[in-house]
Amino acid sequence: MATLEIRDLHVTVEADNATKEILKGVDLTVKQGETHAIMGPNGSGKSTLAYSIAGHPKYTITQGTVTLDGEDVLAMEVDERARAGMFLAMQYPVEVPGVSVSNFLRTSATAIRGEAPKLRTWVKEVKESMAALQMDPAFAERNVNEGFSGGEKKRHEILQMELLKPKIAILDETDSGLDVDALRVVSEGVNRIRETGEVGTLLITHYTRILRYIKPDFVHVFANGRIAESGGAELADKLENEGYEAYVKGGASA
Ligand SMILES: Nc1ncnc2c1ncn2[C@@H]1O[C@H](COP(=O)(O)OP(=O)(O)OP(=O)(O)O)[C@@H](O)[C@H]1O
Ligand SMILES: [Mg+2]
Repeated sequence: MATLEIRDLHVTVEADNATKEILKGVDLTVKQGETHAIMGPNGSGKSTLAYSIAGHPKYTITQGTVTLDGEDVLAMEVDERARAGMFLAMQYPVEVPGVSVSNFLRTSATAIRGEAPKLRTWVKEVKESMAALQMDPAFAERNVNEGFSGGEKKRHEILQMELLKPKIAILDETDSGLDVDALRVVSEGVNRIRETGEVGTLLITHYTRILRYIKPDFVHVFANGRIAESGGAELADKLENEGYEAYVKGGASA
């Protein structure tokens, strides 16, 4: 079983000619088959954690380690991370003009699987996944995320996850902006992948609503650039009722 280990991760970002430390010692272990939810106030560094693991060039790792099965993830190029089985569904998915969804998915799958998927089975695979996510087949010919509604972008992220079969998936606010039906469809998609037992999921969210569909094994409170508390699913309800004040107070960054 694959294991992602984050140890004492410190990350800075350059903003306005100053270096700002955003992550201040994150410790987290995610194993294949487990689901972890991360909840925390705006600006606490949740997306920074996701981007840092994925290898976004804006973020500088100043201390700590990230390993996947003992392999140094931080030493890998972005595409190597994907090939190693890491997947990030971004909070704000980017448009890729000139590249159709169908081409994008096939190119990604080819890169990750190490060989081009057989055309016949591939077309079937894509069609089935799109149908399960209730995506109009016409989306396959549209350019990636171009003119997609918020909810359509999120479905497209889950479509990628389903086809690329990552070992570790980070879903950054995949539930934001979804209507109730879309939330159910997207959650069912995540659960289908989860049921294979072959993905470890890190679900960043603001709402317990999605956690009613996707039951987390662990819930972590993220505040001031680190994990302030960890618990089971019941912790999410506590947070919804009491908010984050107890975690932010006293520990607020400059
Ligand atoms: N590229 C960047 N340039 C400048 N500041 C940044 C950058 N990325 C993150 N930050 C800052 O780091 C802090 C954490 O941002 P981050 O997006 O990680 O928060 P978050 O926990 O994901 O918040 P939200 O819940 O609103 O999505 C914020 O103060 C943000 O302004
Ligand atoms: Mg965020």
